[in-house]
Amino acid sequence: MGRIRILPEPVANKIAAGEVVERPASVVKELIENSLDAGAGRIRAEIEAGGKKRIHIVDDGCGMGRDDALLAFERHATSKLRSADDLLSIATMGFRGEALPSIAAVSRLTLETRSLEEPSGTRIEFAGGKLLNVQESGLPGGTAITVNGLFYNVPARRKFLRAEATELSHITTLVTHYALAFPEKAFHLETQTGEMIRVSPAGTLHDRVFQLFGGELLEDLVEFQPRTAEIPAPPPEAGEEGGTAASAAISISGFLSRPQVQKLNRNSLYLFVNRRHIRDRVLLHAIQEAYRNVLPPHCFPVAMLFLEMPHTEVDVNVHPAKTEVRFRHQAFVHDFVREALREALAVSKPISTFPAGASMAPDAAPNAAPGDSHESPAAGQSRGGERSPAGGGFRLTERPLPPMATPLGFDATLGITAEDIARAATPAAGSFLSPGETPGETGPDAAAELAHLQPLGQIRDSFIVAASPAGLWLIDQHVAHERVLFEQFLAKRERGSVETQRLLMPYILHLSPAQQALWGQTAEELAASGFEAEPFGQGTVAVKAVPAGVKSEEIEKLLAEIVESLEKEARAISSERVLEKIAASVACHAAIKINTPLEQNKMEWLLAELARTRLPMSCPHGRPVVLKYGMREILKAFHRM
Ligand SMILES: Nc1ncnc2c1ncn2[C@@H]1O[C@H](COP(=O)(O)OP(=O)(O)O)[C@@H](O)[C@H]1O
Ligand SMILES: [Mg+2]
Repeated sequence: MGRIRILPEPVANKIAAGEVVERPASVVKELIENSLDAGAGRIRAEIEAGGKKRIHIVDDGCGMGRDDALLAFERHATSKLRSADDLLSIATMGFRGEALPSIAAVSRLTLETRSLEEPSGTRIEFAGGKLLNVQESGLPGGTAITVNGLFYNVPARRKFLRAEATELSHITTLVTHYALAFPEKAFHLETQTGEMIRVSPAGTLHDRVFQLFGGELLEDLVEFQPRTAEIPAPPPEAGEEGGTAASAAISISGFLSRPQVQKLNRNSLYLFVNRRHIRDRVLLHAIQEAYRNVLPPHCFPVAMLFLEMPHTEVDVNVHPAKTEVRFRHQAFVHDFVREALREALAVSKPISTFPAGASMAPDAAPNAAPGDSHESPAAGQSRGGERSPAGGGFRLTERPLPPMATPLGFDATLGITAEDIARAATPAAGSFLSPGETPGETGPDAAAELAHLQPLGQIRDSFIVAASPAGLWLIDQHVAHERVLFEQFLAKRERGSVETQRLLMPYILHLSPAQQALWGQTAEELAASGFEAEPFGQGTVAVKAVPAGVKSEEIEKLLAEIVESLEKEARAISSERVLEKIAASVACHAAIKINTPLEQNKMEWLLAELARTRLPMSCPHGRPVVLKYGMREILKAFHRM
C-alpha cells in the first residue's frame, strides 16, 4: 500500500488555521475584512481578555442566507472569486475562502446572520471545526460572529499567545488601521474595561485622524496634496504582439509628520494600498529615502499613506494573512512614493514647533491600549520607542523638560520655565482643535514667514531669536547655514560649477589600502565636487584643492569625515549617496559656527537664505534648524485663550 494519504478535512483546516490565524488580532482582521466586503457601514468589536477569551464582531452588512452560511465554513468557499483570472485583480479584502473554516477549526465559533432579503436568520455553532448546531433564529439584518476560547484545542498555539495587554494592543492597532482606511464607516472597539475606539462616519481623512488621535498629533502632521502618475506600460514580452497593455494611473495621498517627530520604530507608519493595510519593504525604503537629510538616520516619521492603483498592479495573494503584497512595477512604485514624499516635504516645509506637543505621537493617543508599553511584541507592532531629537531633546513629554532648557538659556532669558511650557502643552488632546479646523499657523506658510522674520538677537552667540506675527522663533545658526550651503552645493554640483580653492600647501592624506580603493572608486565624484587629489607615494594622496568656503583649519576634519563616510557607505555605494555625504560634510565645515556673534544684517541674510531652501526645517544630518513657538501656544501660556 502506498504511503501517501490525503489529510482528513479537519486536519487540513487546522493546518490552514496555522497560517491564517496567528493570534487574536488575526481573527479580528479576517472578520472585519469580511464585514467590509459585506458592505457594512458599522462594525463593532467586543474583546475579552485580549481576545483570548472572546472576540465578538457585529456588522450591518448584507448578511447570509442559510445555505451560504453553512457553505461559508467549507474550505475555499468564497463568494468573491470565480476563476483563476479573478486572482489577477482582487478588489475585495478576502478571496481565499479560508478564514471562516480556519477560525472555526481552532475555537468555539457561533455565527448569527440574516440576509436583508429574508425574514429570519440562521444561527450556527461550531467547536473545533465540528458543526454542533444549526437553527433558524429571529435576528437583525447583518452578521455577528463570536469566537470563544481561541486555540482551546491547540494548546501549543495557545501557549504562544502574549499577555492580554499585548494581544489587545495588536487588535487596537489593527482596528485603527481599518478606521483610517475607511473614514466613511463607523468603528467601535470595546473591552470589558471600556471603550478603546469609537468613531462615527467622518467626512474626511483629516476628521478621522482627529477622531482617532486627537488634535495634538494633527498639529505635528501635514496633509499633502494627492499626487498621480502614469505607470508606464511594460515593454512587450518576447513573442508578444507589442503595446496591448494600457498605461495605468497610480496615486498617493495622506499625512506626513514634521521632522521634530522622530520614532525609533516603524509602528507609526500606516501604509495602505487600495485601502488594504500592508507591510512592505519597498514602501518602507521609499519613506526612509524621502526623509534622508530630514530625519537623523534610523529615525522614522509618522506617516499615513494611501496608495491607489489598478488591482492588476498589485498582487495581494503573496501570504495567507494578505498583509504582504508584490507590486508589478516595484521600482516604479518605489521611486514614485519617494519623489511624492520628497515633494510633499518641500512644498509644506513642515517647521518644528516649540513647545512640541505633549502627545504628538499615537503612543499617547486617547485610544492607545493600556499597558501598551510593558511588553514589546515580536511582530513589532507595539508602540513607543520615542527619543529626543538629536538637536538636544526639545521635545516635551509628560515628565519635566529634558535638560535642553538650560543650555539654550531659554528659561533664564525669557522667564519661561520648563513647567510653564509643559503646562501650556498639556491640555487634553483635541481640546482646542476642532475637527474642521486646519493646523493653520504651523501649516505651509510657516516657511514663507521665515523670509519675513525680524531677528532680535542671539542667545549665547549661537541661536538667533526672531519674531513674526506668527510667534517666536529660534534658529540654530550653524545648522541653518549648513542647510543653506548643502542645497547650494548640490545645485552647483548639478550645474557642474562647484567652485574650488587651491591650497597653498597640498594636504597629505594617509589612507589604508581599503580606503584607497574607495577613494579611487569615488575619484570622479570627488573631482566633480571640487576636490583635486593625486596619488603621492605609498598609501597617501596629495589633496591640492578643496571646495571653496571650507576654512583651512577645517580641511583635515573634512577629509577624515569624507573618508569615514565612504567607508560606512562602502556596501551600498551609490553616487547620489556619496554626493550627499560630501555636500553635507562640506556644508558642515564651511558653515558659521555656534559661539559666533552675528550682526543684524548677517542674521537677516541668513534667515532670507534659509527661507529660500527646499527643506529649511532640518539640517542635512536630520537635526531641526528652526523651532517655532506659535502665537496660540504663547497665548495659552499667558492664559489669554
Ligand atoms: N460578515 C459577513 N457578512 C456577509 N457574508 C460573509 C461575512 N463573513 C463571511 N461571509 C461570506 O462567507 C464567505 C467565506 O468567508 P471567508 O472564509 O472569510 O473567505 P473569503 O473572505 O476569502 O471569501 C465569504 O466569501 C462571504 O461570502
Ligand atoms: Mg474573508
